[in-house]
Amino acid sequence: MTPDGSKGLYPPSDEYRKSAVIKSAEEYEKIYNASIEDPVAYWTKEAEQIEWFSKDWKDAFTWNKRTSEFTWFKGGKLNVCYNCLDRHVKNGLKNTAAIIFQGEEDDDVKVYTYGRLLNEVEKFANVLKSKGIKKGDRVAVYLPMIPELVITLLACTRIGALHSVVFAGFSSEAIYNRVADCKAKLMVTSDGSFRAGKKIDMKGKVNEVLEKDTDIKTVIVVKRTNAEIFMEDDRDVWWHKEMAKAPERCEPEIMDAEDPLFLLYTSGTTGKPKGMVHTNGGYIVGAYSSYKYVFNYRPGQIHWCTADIGWITGHTYILYGPLSFGATTLLFEGVPNYPEEDRFWQVAEKWKVDLFYTAPTALRMIRKSGDEWIKKHDLSSLKMLASVGEPIDADVWKWYHTVIGGGRCPISDTWWQTETGSIIIAPMTGAFDLKPGSAMKPLPGIETTVLREDKTECDVGESGSLYITRPFPSLARTIWNDHKKFVDLYWSAVNGYYLTGDGAKIDPDGDHWLLGRVDDVISVAGHRIGAAEIEAALISHRAVAEAAVVPVPDEIKGEAIYTFVTLKNGFVDSDELKKELINQVRNVVGPIATPKTIQISSGLPKTRSGKIMRRILRKIAGGGKYDDLGDTTTLLDPKIVESLIEGRK
Ligand code: WT7
Repeated sequence: MTPDGSKGLYPPSDEYRKSAVIKSAEEYEKIYNASIEDPVAYWTKEAEQIEWFSKDWKDAFTWNKRTSEFTWFKGGKLNVCYNCLDRHVKNGLKNTAAIIFQGEEDDDVKVYTYGRLLNEVEKFANVLKSKGIKKGDRVAVYLPMIPELVITLLACTRIGALHSVVFAGFSSEAIYNRVADCKAKLMVTSDGSFRAGKKIDMKGKVNEVLEKDTDIKTVIVVKRTNAEIFMEDDRDVWWHKEMAKAPERCEPEIMDAEDPLFLLYTSGTTGKPKGMVHTNGGYIVGAYSSYKYVFNYRPGQIHWCTADIGWITGHTYILYGPLSFGATTLLFEGVPNYPEEDRFWQVAEKWKVDLFYTAPTALRMIRKSGDEWIKKHDLSSLKMLASVGEPIDADVWKWYHTVIGGGRCPISDTWWQTETGSIIIAPMTGAFDLKPGSAMKPLPGIETTVLREDKTECDVGESGSLYITRPFPSLARTIWNDHKKFVDLYWSAVNGYYLTGDGAKIDPDGDHWLLGRVDDVISVAGHRIGAAEIEAALISHRAVAEAAVVPVPDEIKGEAIYTFVTLKNGFVDSDELKKELINQVRNVVGPIATPKTIQISSGLPKTRSGKIMRRILRKIAGGGKYDDLGDTTTLLDPKIVESLIEGRK
């Protein structure tokens, strides 16, 4: 596959095209146009590919635009775990690998067939039940990327409990906020984890969290690192001991399509993370259908998504998408650059990975370390590549295509969000001549539009705000305990349109170019972190009067965190204090939110109404000069800007 000389496009090979689900642009257009003419009929057909205990929905779709409440397949009954496991065991995949676990140590490998995974999940579902967990209860999960994580999630869905996974890189305060908000009753964690050759503490952090008041009655602890840990007598139990006494069989709970399936917290523009609520029916239909169209999986192939299950990408494309499809999915505990810079390629070669899904930040880091690390390995098993998390610029795209894909593998740049549950915009790689840097077209059943600030539609090629014109099955139904916020954040800009929070433009071919967030959300290495969350952490330090956090471009991480801090009287700027402030953020939010820069300043630029002008701070942090700061006339005290520019780090 080489670029088509005239247009710089990258058509897939004939061989790949033939193996794809959608094989040509014409075929896509036919399916797409029909799906937009009658989205309910389209999604109902997609839903038929899931196994239902009963398809007795009255209306496949209901929507109250006034309250922003909508349902898909309500009245239909199913179980997601049943669709991911029992269904395949029944249909001949009992001895096919569902999960290949590759631990950080190369010889730490476990293969779970669909049959074995089902056994483990049934047993763990019984453990959860024995601790009083029932349908509708919330289970907090704070685990490294080990098989027990997958088993826990599937066991929850089997009995109708909602899992709420907290990314292992978060620390106690962030865990506490997430556990307290949803009133989780039980938590699954481990003694520790392995990361880049180090043992990381996990149970200690959990102990700290549980010193505060929560609803957690039981903590189930997986032995992973054999670290010395404190176990509270009436509360903490070992995974292996509970599993040893658990009964073998556990019938799947019959769930309504609209019953919640899981919560996943995501940072937003306010200090408080939002618990996005996904439902059984809609989510699994979206996960299955998008997996089918985007990845073109063929039996026998190995799918590897390098995300962490702590993020939505891991939920949908390590776990629910591939498993609902009966695929073999690789679960990787390690990091790209340990023990050496070629860890990904060594793993890809070892397991003969076919489909590879990663993030631009990982690609930038790998590219920087030098192509020789990649060239050492035989990557001829790779068939298609994908990317998610932030825009992948054309340059990195071409490098990904040439150096990793050997010029042979099409690339799908997939745009979506925690809220959307599944991929929304991405090229169907068998259908299109690919355009580096563009996520190209919406999936069937999804209609997008780009609007100006005054809510009129943008012209072709004009940048604006990206909306989706109606609810689709895998879109989150609400924010846990805060439907008002759900309405305000996503549905009130234009009634009936879902506001994505991203800027975009659509080119003359109808291809989408994503331009990053339009709100105060920072994307560090593709992980969404609310500026407000970091500011709240800083302000909780005794020396801090005020803080404002903005993104600055970063060669590897895409964006890095730049913080402006003003001190309370009696405190002075020092390296020690800056270190303390960095630690404060690391402790409260987590190491992923570590600020790159702390600039202590005498004040922050504010409007007369007291609103911090982040637009200006972004420019200052990014190296802007006074005369390119845009309109500064609404500033309360323009002198502050000069001193900020002077004090820039
Ligand atoms: C935000 C969602 C959903 C997976 C991971 C992140 C940005 C995601 C792309 C892409 C440009 C992208 C957007 C979006 N984003 N994928 N292919 N091109 N931007 O999930 O934490 O919910 O973040 O990530 O800004 O709104 P998330």
